[in-house]
Amino acid sequence: MNPAIRSITRAGINQGLEVLGIRNGYQGLLDDEFLPLDNHIVSGRVRDAGTFLQTSRCPEFREESGQLKALEVLKKNRIDGLIVIGGDGSLTGARALHRRGLSVIGLPGTIDNDLFGTDMGIGVDTALNTIISLVDMIRATAASHRRCFVVEVMGRGSGYLALMATISTGSQVAVIPEFRMNIAKIAQVLHNRFNNRHNNSVILVAEGVCGGAEFMQRLIEIGKVEQEVRLTVLGHVQRGGTPTHYDRLLASRMGEMAVLALLSGERGSMVATVNGRMQLRDFDDILDRRKGLPGDAIRLARNIGIELGDVVES
Ligand code: F6P
Repeated sequence: MNPAIRSITRAGINQGLEVLGIRNGYQGLLDDEFLPLDNHIVSGRVRDAGTFLQTSRCPEFREESGQLKALEVLKKNRIDGLIVIGGDGSLTGARALHRRGLSVIGLPGTIDNDLFGTDMGIGVDTALNTIISLVDMIRATAASHRRCFVVEVMGRGSGYLALMATISTGSQVAVIPEFRMNIAKIAQVLHNRFNNRHNNSVILVAEGVCGGAEFMQRLIEIGKVEQEVRLTVLGHVQRGGTPTHYDRLLASRMGEMAVLALLSGERGSMVATVNGRMQLRDFDDILDRRKGLPGDAIRLARNIGIELGDVVES
């Protein structure tokens, strides 16, 4: 998010605008916590993970009264346009303000990559790079001790991170919410590998899977595999990696585009990247819609021998 805030600030100032940051997300908006931004404050932020403006979850903003209060605070501070960076919840809040007449543009900021309408969100690539470095490190113990590791990655309702990282770490199984896990098949994969000179395996589990990775680990153990099964939960380190080149560029492009969009009178939409090109997508076309996993990634995973579980009938 920091590279996006830097880009918004610089592009805004360059276009003759006054740019204010809101501290602490929607809560900060309700609490009137504004911070004037300038080139100096955002200097170097292209290299930093997270958001120096800080953020929070804000239940009050979900209520009508919270949204009306937010509009009042914005009016008092003479704000003409708002740029919101976040996932589904944040952009749903942005749409609520847009519907009440405010000029709002959204940027997709969730590592889960579950926002419909954009191929990638800000931070996804960095999170994936962090995950693959950590899983590569886990391999050393897995190989030396002939173990199976169950590694939990983020993804509340989406298996995107788990699926992509399974492919790019050469792991054997992805347990993701989009497919029904099949413990018998997983045990068979481990058994076959163990008896075929591959005595270590890694299973990536999306945290959103029913019961989580700990439950998975227990189930696999009950499946009587020949080796020790250990659990590693990667947790919030996944959100702390130094932004990759891809993310720095994506966030910079999206931030600049959001400023230009507001200036040209666009509102009520999210900046998206579709087939490598920047686009604006109406909030109404993208929110409340379920983003599926890329079909080619599922096919690739299956074709290179990754166990994904069974298709869930819809
Ligand atoms: O929504 C993005 C996400 O990274 C999820 O994958 C994860 O469940 C959640 O955020 C963690 O949020 P928090 O830090 O508030 O627990």
